[in-house]
Amino acid sequence: MDARALESEATSAISGSSSLEELEAARIRFLGRKSELSQALRDVRDRETGQLLNPIKAHLEQAVEERKNALERAELDRKLAEEAVDVTLPGEEHPVGSLHPTTHIRRLVEDAFLGLGYEIVDDREVETVHYNFDQLAFPPAHPTRSPRDTFFIDPFFIDPARLLRTETSPSQIHVMEAKKPPIYMVSIGRVYRRDEITPTRFPIFHQFEGLAVDRGITLADLKGTLLHVMKVLFGEDRQVRFRTHYFPFTEPSIEPDVSCPNCDFKGCRMCKFTGWIELGGAGMVDPAVFENVGLDPEEWSGFAFGCGLERAAQLRYDITEIRPFWENDLRVLRQF
Ligand code: DAH
Repeated sequence: MDARALESEATSAISGSSSLEELEAARIRFLGRKSELSQALRDVRDRETGQLLNPIKAHLEQAVEERKNALERAELDRKLAEEAVDVTLPGEEHPVGSLHPTTHIRRLVEDAFLGLGYEIVDDREVETVHYNFDQLAFPPAHPTRSPRDTFFIDPFFIDPARLLRTETSPSQIHVMEAKKPPIYMVSIGRVYRRDEITPTRFPIFHQFEGLAVDRGITLADLKGTLLHVMKVLFGEDRQVRFRTHYFPFTEPSIEPDVSCPNCDFKGCRMCKFTGWIELGGAGMVDPAVFENVGLDPEEWSGFAFGCGLERAAQLRYDITEIRPFWENDLRVLRQF
């Protein structure tokens, strides 16, 4: 064996290996147990040969180690370059949701009444004829009792017939049956009517219903309360007026109107060219209703009101139609 020739052949095989696998193959070939060098070292009989071969072995082992380090570093560099994150690339988009305008206005109403010391009451949407009509003193032949106007769940002539409430006013009855006055409560929720869909009517909408029962409550208290809440909801610029009206469960009854934010009395489709938009109904609780729930009308007096929540949102946000509240078109909802 020509030791020097072997050494140079091994050195170039080691330094020329381009992968860890190739290097390992070269190591086995030149330094492995069965390699020529290992055989020769095992057979060494004289000092001279040992002094020649041992440094060659040491030198080759060092070369393998160095080449291994170099290859590993190159591999790491390659990986780092390959997996590098380009922080200048646009990130993944996480769309941010927003509150529905109905939710916005609902929270405003709740805050306004909580500020006046009112309690927020949750109520059911499935009612009975008893609570939706009878207890509220609707006369037996009132047209909204008919399945033409109201969504009945049971046939309307069976007793008790369940229906989807047509207004939030039955919650007044539930509250007065459940607790003794003084009562100051607001209940907000969905109501259902068999109306055709038009720009301003939808068969489902929300109302906020309020009830105050105490000693010595007057119509002036009702007006003051509604005026305050309307200022909170619509700002100082909107004008408010009260018209007399009729509801079976209040006497006297009034309807609050708010000046049209869309045209400022110039007249437009939203206010049907009257300059005013009707917000709901209100009045002093009828003595018959107090009697229905076992309260003495000589001792207790109270007022109640019920307003459309979408209507209020339309006024506040200047939305001319009710349909967008139910269509859930993201192009609309993203604006809130
Ligand atoms: N429930 C009536 C409606 O939907 C609104 C209303 C009127 C509610 C007078 C009241 C009230 O509480 O006192 O048209």
